[in-house]
Amino acid sequence: MNILMVASEGVPFIKTGGLADVIGSLPKALQHEGCDIRVILPKYGTIIEEFKDQMNFLCSFPVMVGWRKQHCGLFELKFNGIHYYFIDNEYYFNRERIYDFFDEAERFAYFCFAVLEATQHMDFQPEILHCHDWQASLVPVFLKSHYLQQAPYSNMKTVLTIHNLKYQGIFPEVILSDILGLGYEHFTPDSLESNGCVNYLKGGILYSDVVNTVSSTYAEEIKHVFYGEGLEAVIAKKGIQGIVNGIDYDLYNPMGDSNIQFHYKTSLAKKLKNKEELQKQLNLPINQATPMIAIVSRLVEQKGFDLLAPIIHQVLAEDIQLVVLGTGEKKYEDFFLQAMHIYPEKVSTKLYFNEALAMQIYAGADLFLMPSKFEPCGLSQLIALRYGNIPIVRETGGLKDTVQPFNEFEQTGNGFTFTNYNAHDMLHTIQRALSIYKNQVQWANLVKNAVKQDYSWSNAAKHYKNLYLQL
Ligand code: GLC
Repeated sequence: MNILMVASEGVPFIKTGGLADVIGSLPKALQHEGCDIRVILPKYGTIIEEFKDQMNFLCSFPVMVGWRKQHCGLFELKFNGIHYYFIDNEYYFNRERIYDFFDEAERFAYFCFAVLEATQHMDFQPEILHCHDWQASLVPVFLKSHYLQQAPYSNMKTVLTIHNLKYQGIFPEVILSDILGLGYEHFTPDSLESNGCVNYLKGGILYSDVVNTVSSTYAEEIKHVFYGEGLEAVIAKKGIQGIVNGIDYDLYNPMGDSNIQFHYKTSLAKKLKNKEELQKQLNLPINQATPMIAIVSRLVEQKGFDLLAPIIHQVLAEDIQLVVLGTGEKKYEDFFLQAMHIYPEKVSTKLYFNEALAMQIYAGADLFLMPSKFEPCGLSQLIALRYGNIPIVRETGGLKDTVQPFNEFEQTGNGFTFTNYNAHDMLHTIQRALSIYKNQVQWANLVKNAVKQDYSWSNAAKHYKNLYLQL
């Protein structure tokens, strides 16, 4: 089975969020399932030189974007056993960052046209185009509107995976013919039109053969108004599946992680030594017994940090340490900085991202706070579980599917959860976690439960393979 994955970011080349992690690790797992899987990405200027130097130029060809003829260079690179292709156009992709430009509509329309053209220039005949998020959503649209009559396109099938419904790619009506080269038959409530605008993701959902999202709970939630971001009716009608993401168990492995000093599997003694190292590094009082709560996250509304504001003083009245790592909206950055200024002995806030420090935090901290307002899947709670760092989450999306509340009587569950988006429900859940932490036997059982679960990609890859087979 020949699959071409189409995405706007992927580890190790370029990353802004969880999508890149998925693109960086799912293909390997699918290869193990016997799929011939390749990946195509834009060749951004910000990809490091070392990778760019290793890429081979394959060919160049013209790409029509609306009425304008653009140029495309196709590059390839084999890395870590995976065959990657890159779409090169200096004008669209050689910029100082990868998103948020005035011409996003045109950049990603170009990318999708170029991907379809590129399939003619590969020594590989994709049977399925597996597209991710709005940036790749025009591939199924163009396939059906512009290409389907021609061989080899007539047999191609499309899968769309939605990683976050909040981002849809919504643009003014004028781009319909100018940039997409589409007629008004594609601008109806049953195609790309939504609220008088062109909606790329909506097009992707309606024109793809199969659509899925990254957890079963999120797949259900987005059929309803609160989570549906205006597309709830479209989603409910299409019927979409949920396949929960995994993480790369070779990459995230407390037994071999070179970022941490003391390697461990279930040993709490070793984990506590990592905590001490972290306390030294962050200038916090050194004490193995102080429960440490970690936040490693983009600091944005989705992640639920608004819930902390009303109860932060009650949380920090407890004997705890709070460690925050991430960047994002100023209001959250300021909030965590302020907490550090008021409680310098208890809070460490680092407003940047650093992979090594992130891993040291996963390994050293006891609890991992992730109270998301919505969460399509969430990868960090899976990393936390792997490192025996117990998640405290709100029961939404993938958090609900991967974290089960600890039951102290039956010693089951791998974390702490609350249902409503409510600050005091979260406070009580944190307090309960801290009381269980004091009971060493129970805590050790909880950590064992957390680390023994398998959240590697092997399960998800089997589900994706089944989905491909359906086509
Ligand atoms: C997005 C979602 C996150 C998900 C990730 C990968 O970043 O917000 O929940 O885990 O995509 O699918």
